[in-house]
Amino acid sequence: QEIKLADYQAPDYYTQATHLTFDINDGATLVTNLMSVERRNDAANSLQLDGEHLELVAVSIDGRELAGNEYQIDEESLTLHNLDASHEIKIVTRIKPEENTALEGLYRSSSMYCTQCEAQGFRRITYYQDRPDVLAKFTTTIVADAAAYPTLLSNGNLIEGPSIVDGRRSVTWEDPFPKPAYLFALVAGDLEMIEDTFTTMNDRVVTLRIYSEPHNIAQCDYAMGALKRSMKWDEEQFGREYDLDIFMIVAVEDFNMGAMENKGLNIFNTSCVLASKDTATDAAYERVEAVVAHEYFHNWSGNRVTCRDWFQLSLKEGFTVFRDAEFSSDMNSRAVKRIDDVTFLRAVQFAEDAGPLAHPVRPASYIEISNFYTTTIYEKGAEVVRMYKTLLGDEKFRAGSDLYFERFDGSAATTDDFAGVMAEVSGRDLTQFKRWYEQAGTPVLTVHESFSAGEFKLTITQSCPATPGQKEKLPFQIPIELGLLNEEGTPLSFFDLVIDCEEQFESRDGGFSLLLSMTQPTSTVSFSFLDDKPVVSFLRGFSAPVRVHYERPAEDLKLLANHDTDGFVKWDSMTSLWLQSFEGKEVDHGSLIDIVGGIAEQALHAPEDAEQKMLAATLLTMPEANYLFEQLSTLDVDHVLSTSDQLYASIGTQHKATWLELFEKNTASGPYQPDGLGMARRALANRAFSYYAQSLEGDELAEFVTGYFSQVDNLTDRRAALSVAVRHEKLAASVRSKMLEDFYTAWQAEALVIDMWFSLQAQSPLSTINDLQALTRHPAFDVKNPNRARSIYSAFGMYNHHRLHALDGSGYQFIADAIGEIDQLNPQLASRMATPLTRWHRYDHERQGLMKARLEQLSHSPDISKDLFEIVSKSLQAG
Ligand code: ARG
Ligand code: ZN
Repeated sequence: QEIKLADYQAPDYYTQATHLTFDINDGATLVTNLMSVERRNDAANSLQLDGEHLELVAVSIDGRELAGNEYQIDEESLTLHNLDASHEIKIVTRIKPEENTALEGLYRSSSMYCTQCEAQGFRRITYYQDRPDVLAKFTTTIVADAAAYPTLLSNGNLIEGPSIVDGRRSVTWEDPFPKPAYLFALVAGDLEMIEDTFTTMNDRVVTLRIYSEPHNIAQCDYAMGALKRSMKWDEEQFGREYDLDIFMIVAVEDFNMGAMENKGLNIFNTSCVLASKDTATDAAYERVEAVVAHEYFHNWSGNRVTCRDWFQLSLKEGFTVFRDAEFSSDMNSRAVKRIDDVTFLRAVQFAEDAGPLAHPVRPASYIEISNFYTTTIYEKGAEVVRMYKTLLGDEKFRAGSDLYFERFDGSAATTDDFAGVMAEVSGRDLTQFKRWYEQAGTPVLTVHESFSAGEFKLTITQSCPATPGQKEKLPFQIPIELGLLNEEGTPLSFFDLVIDCEEQFESRDGGFSLLLSMTQPTSTVSFSFLDDKPVVSFLRGFSAPVRVHYERPAEDLKLLANHDTDGFVKWDSMTSLWLQSFEGKEVDHGSLIDIVGGIAEQALHAPEDAEQKMLAATLLTMPEANYLFEQLSTLDVDHVLSTSDQLYASIGTQHKATWLELFEKNTASGPYQPDGLGMARRALANRAFSYYAQSLEGDELAEFVTGYFSQVDNLTDRRAALSVAVRHEKLAASVRSKMLEDFYTAWQAEALVIDMWFSLQAQSPLSTINDLQALTRHPAFDVKNPNRARSIYSAFGMYNHHRLHALDGSGYQFIADAIGEIDQLNPQLASRMATPLTRWHRYDHERQGLMKARLEQLSHSPDISKDLFEIVSKSLQAG
């Protein structure tokens, strides 16, 4: 049942070309698959094809239909024996997309048919070598009712049709680029479309289209702009030009993930493509821009160069996340993007790496590949690519990327291939660096300083905790970027210092930063001829995905927060100060409250600059509970939750006047614009709004919150108001429910807005389990729609810490029951929802027991899916 990297074998046959015909009828679709296959030199003469949930209608070889005893068939495959070196194989299957609730393969989403084939959905369409190292040219004919399905799309270029015969429309698409089956896509529906063009660097004109159901088409313009920016950026930064005559995006309401990079026909969850001021928050706009870019960038990092097997998933995902992060940094604020990414990495990926499901960026085995679309593969994988860039420098990294695309174009590559080109262009031995792909767990750097006789010495020790199946870890090669500040906060130039270090090092940033390449278990670096002990700005830009243990006085952190030139270190220092307020019970919060007040004061006088305002808003944000839960050295759930409530209230009350001023100064100065300055102003205004609300009660509070709520012109601000309303204890319940009702009435036609409405309630500590159960009976709740199911259950499991961790076990029960129910419909969705329970090891004994009991309950359900079984059993084994 377990699939191992060590067992990889090249296929015996290659499918060279595939002609598919879909005859779509309500209730059943007939799929005819005509493949030409060719044997690999000296390979065996049988061919095993993958297939699941299929009804086989006919098989023929070179035009001769086979009898039932001429092939072997089971639940997961069809095998043909005694084959010659090449054949034309025809397979006809019948599938029922209308009954497909797993949303893998061909399925129905409201009025349309669509597909999701990555990783192994294609085998639910026809029998096929459903593995990424089999690359074929696809031709796709779609036949469907002409009135109901005027839009018929697949990969590549339209080569025939549309023609209509007997009320059935028929079209044929051809994709000239050989591709694995996971990149196949088909859409059939009655869709509307917006169209634009992009002229490539070689003056080819590409048609761009975004399709959606008619009620969503007005919300596609922002994505179109983002697509054009992505295409231009990829040419300029990576030299990548688009290769087909047409590029299409389709917005789909029922989708398990964010989006999918099918060749020439990306399919998107509506949540990652639609945006308008009343239906998308600023965060959603940013997400749309980032996901459009991500999927577009896959055209090279994923499609032109694909993966040999699924162990190499990070080859395309890590690299593409890195690419989309660079794009977002160039489009918006680089520092803020980095801070957001590190926040996410620490809260989510570090937790994964420290838990029972920890796995390397290149895993060695899996049961169900869908479970490996993780933050380790994606975000830690992106960090690994980023470290290559840091170590090699911009130019060599670009040379490595160019070489990678040139050498592996049209083929299925491995992470080793990627590592190989990077080593080649750098002329360095980067063998040790590859441990980042092989060893799981987050390395820990312990830093000690000493200063005597003008010499400042840093001693850095690395270690990495054991993870499941990997007890001992070898040292990593870790790029550490640092700077030194004097006690006034002025940066010191490394050109003026005598540096002694056994590791490779070089100065960067005009001499103001130093890059160390740490390779040993312990490394030291010393700087001579200093008058005073400097303050270290450590791990600038978060140059490696590691934890840092560095005992230092609050004074140093304050100095860095105020003066460092590195946005990440500024924020990280401030965040360490926030964290200190949660460590131990005897902490005096006075000084933190003062510091926050000081930053708020400064923010009042900040210039009208997007970056500065956004950075200020970030510094003023208390780390969210998931971040605290992961980062604190010991976790006391009740203490953290009560402290954050108290601290929040004190900060609000003690700087009441400042918050009001900051709020008023940054509220709307014109109609909504999803641009940097607008977003930064809203971020500051809403931060101030929510602190200020803490200082109010009674009618004053109600008027303040409802006043703002009724006057704002966009979802970002409306959400800020509603979010305070659903969780402010001092707000009268009647005011809260009136706001919720009004909101629902106004926006009930907008699915994504109603998702948010459910989710805010699911996250609120004021919602009891009974309230949430009632919410699941709301007529608009639909457990089969992943966005809607997540809007209650994932929002609850991930963010409602008060209720999830209730000591009567009711929160764990609530989520476990939902997971069990959803597993019967949609295993991928269920398996993801189980994540909060798999983090049991972080909690106290009592809660551990309660969480494990729910995992046990799930593991014993009679028809548990492979997906959920892997997650549940692995997380129980580790304990
Ligand atoms: N490749 C898609 C992306 O751009 C994600 C596909 C996820 N599919 C899955 N079965 N988990 O990241
Ligand atoms: Zn991706």
